[in-house]
Amino acid sequence: MKENSQSPITISVIKADIGGYVGHSASHPEIIDLAEDKLKKAKKEELLIDFYVTSCGDDLELIMTHRQGKDSEKIHKLAWDTFMACTELARELKLYGAGQDMLADAFSGNVKGMGPGVAEMSFVERKSEPVIVFCGDKCAPGAWNLPLFKIFADPFNTIGLVIDPTMHDGFRFEVHDVFEGRDMILSCPEEMYDLLVLIGSPENYVIKNVYKKDGEIAATSSTQKLALIAGRYVGKDDPVMMVRCQSGFPAVGEVLEAFAFPHLVSGWMRGSHYGPLMPVAQREATPSRFDGPPRVIALGFQLAEGKLIGPRDMFDDPGFDLARKEANRLAEFMRRHGPFEPHRLGLKEMEYTTLPQVLKKLLEREKQG
Ligand code: 13P
Ligand code: 13P
Ligand code: MG
Ligand code: MG
Repeated sequence: MKENSQSPITISVIKADIGGYVGHSASHPEIIDLAEDKLKKAKKEELLIDFYVTSCGDDLELIMTHRQGKDSEKIHKLAWDTFMACTELARELKLYGAGQDMLADAFSGNVKGMGPGVAEMSFVERKSEPVIVFCGDKCAPGAWNLPLFKIFADPFNTIGLVIDPTMHDGFRFEVHDVFEGRDMILSCPEEMYDLLVLIGSPENYVIKNVYKKDGEIAATSSTQKLALIAGRYVGKDDPVMMVRCQSGFPAVGEVLEAFAFPHLVSGWMRGSHYGPLMPVAQREATPSRFDGPPRVIALGFQLAEGKLIGPRDMFDDPGFDLARKEANRLAEFMRRHGPFEPHRLGLKEMEYTTLPQVLKKLLEREKQG
């Protein structure tokens, strides 16, 4: 296919925690530099059109544009090799949890199921194509359920659903059943209550994609659950998502508005606590208090023939000061519960932490005693 503005471009966001500096609080600058060097080389070789490397807490995100399509072995291998090189450097620097998300020994065609989180979408670029990339730390993939619902189905958040004729038909949500592995499509506003039955349980059901009614992709998120891949606790998944904005999609401000409410998500300390998701500037994505509270950053780009014009650090705005204040107030309230539910996750969600080992010991003592 001739590469012109009519051929689809793909934007891939692939992320991994390859080691934290200090503890689980941030990424080391040398790690970011190394990842940039690797992707610069791939851009020179014309595998990538463009790229941007960022971090949210201890998670390293590779934002890449290309014409290889989704699930491209070449792109996934590039991400895998980059994370492996960064892991090696993390080991040299003895960063914390070096290689934390690199769960497989060798690359086998696609990074899905190997530890890293993946969100990808392909589309023909519009006349103007604003895209926002969201990255979370100290939270699970279900963290996007509430904001995605607000952005694409709640008229109290998104006035465009009411007054914009190009959005008035609503959107379709593809929901992933985390434990059974199947996907369901629910259409809003018609099936809104059915959708809420599912996505109100973000540990079980995760919104994977959102589409316009004509099938055009609007948003996508990473749904990989590390504990289900590894069968043990290996840190929280710290998901990413991407949303297309304006002209038939929600406006940039409608997309960001969903994060003005710092809703409670699972994650935080040892991946075992509920806490508020605080929207912050990238420079403030360094969770420290009780390894938190959970963070989300929003990087805005204008695409121009696949080039990433940006980013703009979208939560770096006094308009989100109140959300941050509210998040801190909620964090304090939740923290006062100490080891009690519902600050600490329920027993079912604690299954993949170290708590069952302690519980088992205790129950054995009970039997003897
Ligand atoms: P402008 O009039 O600045 O283009 O804004 C339109 C809009 O949709 C804002 O949400
Ligand atoms: P991460 O999932 O960000 O590595 O955090 C793990 C943890 O245990 C924080 O206390
Ligand atoms: Mg970590
Ligand atoms: Mg993390």
